[in-house]
Amino acid sequence: MKNKFKTVLEPFKIKMVEPIKMTTYEERQKYIQEANYNIFCIKAENILIDLLTDSGTGAMSASQWAAMMEGDESYAGCRSYYKMYDAIHELTGFKHIFPTHQGRAAERILFGIVGEEGKIIPNNTHFDTTRANIEYNKTEAVDLVIQEGKSPSINHPFKGNIDLKKLRELFEKHKGTDRIPVCMLTITNNSGGGQPVSMENIRETKKICDEYGIPLFLDACRFAENAYFIKIREPGYENKVIKEIVQEIFSYADGATMSSKKDALVNMGGFLAFNDDDLAQKVQNMEILTEGYPTYGGLSGRDLAALAQGLHEVIEEDYLEYRIKSTQYFGDALIKEGIPVVFPIGGHAVYIDAKKMLPHIKPCEFPGHALACELYLEGGIRACEIGSLMFAKKDPATGEEIPAQMELLRLAIPRRVYTQSHIDYVVEVIHEVNRNKEKIKGYEIVEEPPFLRHFSAKLKPKK
Ligand code: F0G
Repeated sequence: MKNKFKTVLEPFKIKMVEPIKMTTYEERQKYIQEANYNIFCIKAENILIDLLTDSGTGAMSASQWAAMMEGDESYAGCRSYYKMYDAIHELTGFKHIFPTHQGRAAERILFGIVGEEGKIIPNNTHFDTTRANIEYNKTEAVDLVIQEGKSPSINHPFKGNIDLKKLRELFEKHKGTDRIPVCMLTITNNSGGGQPVSMENIRETKKICDEYGIPLFLDACRFAENAYFIKIREPGYENKVIKEIVQEIFSYADGATMSSKKDALVNMGGFLAFNDDDLAQKVQNMEILTEGYPTYGGLSGRDLAALAQGLHEVIEEDYLEYRIKSTQYFGDALIKEGIPVVFPIGGHAVYIDAKKMLPHIKPCEFPGHALACELYLEGGIRACEIGSLMFAKKDPATGEEIPAQMELLRLAIPRRVYTQSHIDYVVEVIHEVNRNKEKIKGYEIVEEPPFLRHFSAKLKPKK
């Protein structure tokens, strides 16, 4: 650790700025009303601090922009592809590397090939698009995160770990049936609060997979953040450099899906990488059909060049120290004021437990959403509800809504975009909202689409 002071020093300086449009409370009242109280429908220019996602919202470095100028736009075999190949191969060791336009495209191709009716794919926790792509292929997506990973308040250094006993039981139950084509592990576990998976858990998962002849694939979006948590929390890794830790992580995997919009530090892109030659033939066919020629896969040459450079930068320890420390700083500032958050603080986001913070709002009146609206009105901050607006299910018999397991508000932090004073501002706004929280009202849905309603539903505050 090179910075012994408590200030989280951003290890970069700013060369280009993008103005933030300042707005008043009254203006924001108008904008949110026009958006039918749906946070996704507010124009980004009317947001002061946008914490909706850490996906594709990061800032590229001068070296990445410079690399883009060198992008080779040849249709086949472009130089930028080989740069990207080398960068990914160096970290993962995988032989076959297919770029895709984003993470879910890699998932669609993989599960379109290995998934079919009657098959089962386990994971610590499937991210929404992973689950959706699995289920779209009539395959069952099973979540097997450890018990500690399901409770917001329990402290555990690796809450993203998969339950090895349950995994073995699942494999044993379906032994010799070919029903489990692949086992997934999401690092870090986004749906469980951005929690890391330990090296020991990855290693043991691979051992069990090997015993049953099942390949292990990583959902590797936030692999570098996960590696840093291993370095600072897992005995035996404190003196290793991040690159070595990353290489060890991937050495236990047979393949990976990746959204480069996270830990490859680019605004768009993804890839699917693995060793299996037969699978490569099938993936190549699907890639050509739906993404593009395999050396560009839906991306421009310049995107591949920026991605290659991003992978070099994301494993820099100064960057990761700042990244994890700044998320922790944000979380600690909320904890200090007694705001209930998912504990411990994860890598890419802070999650507020809205059910606990706003106990007077019933889950069917969306406490997480109510808090999101209030943060926007009070301070122009945008965050994402992960609760009953997003995940409630309808009881097929009664049509009644079954609320989600948790009512969370995720404040995801774009990479290298906001400074400590932006975060201090967000903290101040949340404290103010917390002081007046009894006045916050629940919401009701006025109009909703048949699925993925959180993106476009129209809502209004309860009287
Ligand atoms: N896997 C995980 C763990 C993710 O967090 C995401 C995206 C994906 C796969 C899909 O990648 O968006 O490039 O297609 N997560 C974003 C988020 C959308 O806000 O957490 P993609």
